[in-house]
Amino acid sequence: MNPLDQKIEEHYHKEGLFEEILARLKNQNIDLAHVNRSDISSVDEFHVRGAAVSKELATMIDIDGKTVLDLGSGLGGPCRMLADEFNCTATGIELSPEFVRTANALSKLVGLEDKTFFIQGNATRLPFEDNSFDVVWTQHVQMNIPDKSKFYGEAYRVLKPGGHFLYYDIFRKDDGAIQYPMPWAARESLSFLIKNGEMAQIVEDLGLQPISKTDQTQAGIEFFTSLLKKINEYGPPKIGLNLIMGDSTVSKLTNLLDHLQKGLLMLESGVYQK
Ligand SMILES: C[S@@+](CC[C@H](N)C(=O)[O-])C[C@H]1O[C@@H](n2cnc3c(N)ncnc32)[C@H](O)[C@@H]1O
Repeated sequence: MNPLDQKIEEHYHKEGLFEEILARLKNQNIDLAHVNRSDISSVDEFHVRGAAVSKELATMIDIDGKTVLDLGSGLGGPCRMLADEFNCTATGIELSPEFVRTANALSKLVGLEDKTFFIQGNATRLPFEDNSFDVVWTQHVQMNIPDKSKFYGEAYRVLKPGGHFLYYDIFRKDDGAIQYPMPWAARESLSFLIKNGEMAQIVEDLGLQPISKTDQTQAGIEFFTSLLKKINEYGPPKIGLNLIMGDSTVSKLTNLLDHLQKGLLMLESGVYQK
């Protein structure tokens, strides 16, 4: 790993994450021989609005039975949802070895290890042939990647002609200063935010055709307002993203909410076709 990737990996790293999730499930009296996807969905979807927004993204195209590549797949929740609910074969590429180990173990835990595959690697150097996947999918990853042309260029390269690129991401809306920590970066040197229009220019220059886009900012603001209220009233969830974000969970979420409300950042999902 190059020095920047190492620092990004350290930002997300949580030693023994799978074992911690198992211990929390056990504490909740969940039978470890019969864990459902819903038992882990509050920890295995690491983006604003979690499982709900992944489901919305999946229904933006006819994704049933397709081969999907998830760039920066985290703990693998979106891939498992696509495999389980849409009969997809889903492959995730992910920088963090600990996340890859956890993602594969969680798939085994819920019986989806034959339809989801997680490998360690860098999304800017994909170990796949040209034109390999029906769908390339990414959520909340490119903010950690300085070389946007390589990231989107690789997505384009491995996508089959006619295939779809689906994204749900955090973008800069205004040029004002960003306060850290944020969920994806404890400090500015790990964060590479661009505007949605800059992304559109890059992918359209590559040859992707825009199909649709949705501003998800207001939905994100409502989600965080309600989540932070719950955390303030009842404390952090027993099984949640606080297992990854640690002691700074509330300041990371509060900062992101504040920047969305002030119009410095925005959330957008969308679909392109090759
Ligand atoms: C905020 S998490 C989102 C995870 C997942 N996409 C999800 O929505 O549940 C960002 C993820 O991107 C991964 N990541 C960052 N840079 C990457 C890169 N260059 N290649 C692959 N994964 C990367 C991180 O390790 C982390 O798991």
